[in-house]
Amino acid sequence: MLEKEFKEAMGRFAGAVNAITTFDAGKPVGLIATAVCSLSAEPPSVIVCVNKTASAHDVILNSGYFGVNLLSPQQAQVVSRFTQNTGSDRFCPESWTLDDGKAPILNDAPVAMTCAVGNCFDGYSHTIFVGLIERIALCGAEQNQCLLWKGRGLHHAVEYVAAS
Ligand SMILES: Cc1cc2nc3c(=O)[nH]c(=O)nc-3n(C[C@H](O)[C@H](O)[C@H](O)COP(=O)(O)O)c2cc1C
Repeated sequence: MLEKEFKEAMGRFAGAVNAITTFDAGKPVGLIATAVCSLSAEPPSVIVCVNKTASAHDVILNSGYFGVNLLSPQQAQVVSRFTQNTGSDRFCPESWTLDDGKAPILNDAPVAMTCAVGNCFDGYSHTIFVGLIERIALCGAEQNQCLLWKGRGLHHAVEYVAAS
């Protein structure tokens, strides 16, 4: 009933764009997601909401691990690569570290985290995965920019300076 308004409303929330990744029998798979949220500092944990129909959904359930790779504006091509391809073709080999064993990690991402699935909950069309963070890679200051999704397009954040 409220579907149209819901989509319009959610589109007004700017969300950081992430590549959620895992391995399917050694092959990298994943999806682009904005539904990523900090959960707790003790233990360090995040929540990621993944559509049950997404090709990576059951792979995350079975492997028990996923990566959360926050994209910078310089990494916007990761979004087009993910949306225009399927399976491991989503991963440009030069851009990713694929020998971790637990989850593909995007080189030079502002933040790249390896998470073990600590819990998962039914969220209607989605599964709410709780990720227990095992490893955090933080880029240097020059790459520390965040790619945003708002409305139907990509944006980047500009610092707000209040008028005095
Ligand atoms: C900017 C953006 C944000 C998205 N956010 C989510 C999300 O938070 N959760 C989710 O399950 N799918 C999200 N999607 C959709 C998935 O990336 C993906 O397209 C969909 O799950 C189909 O995946 P598949 O082709 O591997 O089955 C988002 C897509 C885009 C372009």
